[in-house]
Amino acid sequence: MWFESLHQSHHFIRYMMVVGSRLVFAIFLGNCLCLLLLRTLIDANQADVDCLRTFKSQVEDPNSYLSSWVFGNEAYGYICKFSGVTCWHDDENRVLSIKLSGYGLRGVFPLGIKQCSDLVGLDISRNNFSGPLPSNLTDVIPLVTTLDLSFNSFTGGIPVNIANITFLNSLMLQNNQFTGQLPPELVKLGRLKTFSVANNRLSGPIPTFKSTSINSENFANNTGLCGKPLDECKTASRGKVVIIAALGGFTVAAFVVGIILGLFCSSISVERLLFKRS
Ligand SMILES: *[C@@H]1O[C@H](CO)[C@@H](O)[C@H](O)[C@H]1NC(C)=O
Ligand SMILES: *[C@@H]1O[C@H](CO)[C@@H](O)[C@H](O)[C@H]1NC(C)=O
Ligand SMILES: *[C@@H]1O[C@H](CO)[C@@H](O)[C@H](O)[C@H]1NC(C)=O
Ligand SMILES: *[C@@H]1O[C@H](CO)[C@@H](O)[C@H](O)[C@H]1NC(C)=O
Repeated sequence: MWFESLHQSHHFIRYMMVVGSRLVFAIFLGNCLCLLLLRTLIDANQADVDCLRTFKSQVEDPNSYLSSWVFGNEAYGYICKFSGVTCWHDDENRVLSIKLSGYGLRGVFPLGIKQCSDLVGLDISRNNFSGPLPSNLTDVIPLVTTLDLSFNSFTGGIPVNIANITFLNSLMLQNNQFTGQLPPELVKLGRLKTFSVANNRLSGPIPTFKSTSINSENFANNTGLCGKPLDECKTASRGKVVIIAALGGFTVAAFVVGIILGLFCSSISVERLLFKRS
């Protein structure tokens, strides 16, 4: 009898040990997963905090309009209260859009914005940004649907790479100092509804956009943009003009050479005549 019960209790203890160890393991695993989840969440949010910190350090802010951007707070979503910043959720440091129009900011395009990896809207219009746009713009802001850089002093070409920001439906580049041609690749932007490059120094043919809402005003006041919806490109007729001018020049040159040769010959024959007579 005692033997049996001893045997049973032995079994029981063993059973409890197995259950216990499994329980401990499960709790351990649960904690690990939970920590991992929390960790990735915090890391993701930390990237967005770093993004805004870098942004602030990369731009000049002569009017101190970014003074509400104070870092080092522990509260969830504290960056969502920064002026110009909108988050996906108010209690999560994950930036949805940045709108800083007319803040008097200066400097080059702030590359640090790449760390705001979920950014879908960027508006830094009516500031004093200058210099060329980065040629890898699509790597910096791959998901933006609205991009407004209008009324700044950006220079250089419009990067071909913009055509790879697939979800763009609004691209405002007017009133800058962009030069060169419009990349033909821009027609790849199938969702583009709003677009303007008015008041720049662009030239060359306008690509055929799908959207009908993009009209001649959106291309106005450039150095030499042509083609629909503006006037036809003059390259063909300009080519004819060049050929006609060249032919004309050739004719004149031949005529002049002819006269000179004629004079030369006649002077020779006159000389000969005089020589013979004398
Ligand atoms: C841009 O900078 C110039 C001086 O370089 C200044 O006069 C002008 O007010 C600035 N524009 C804005 C919108 O801050
Ligand atoms: C984009 O190019 C700049 C140099 O123009 C470089 O510093 C930056 O790391 C590049 N960014 C990405 C996301 O490739
Ligand atoms: C755009 O993306 C396509 C496909 O990923 C790639 O082949 C092309 O080189 C990219 N163009 C630019 C200008 O980055
Ligand atoms: C083009 O320039 C003229 C003269 O500066 C201005 O009145 C007009 O508003 C400009 N057009 C656009 C579309 O900005």
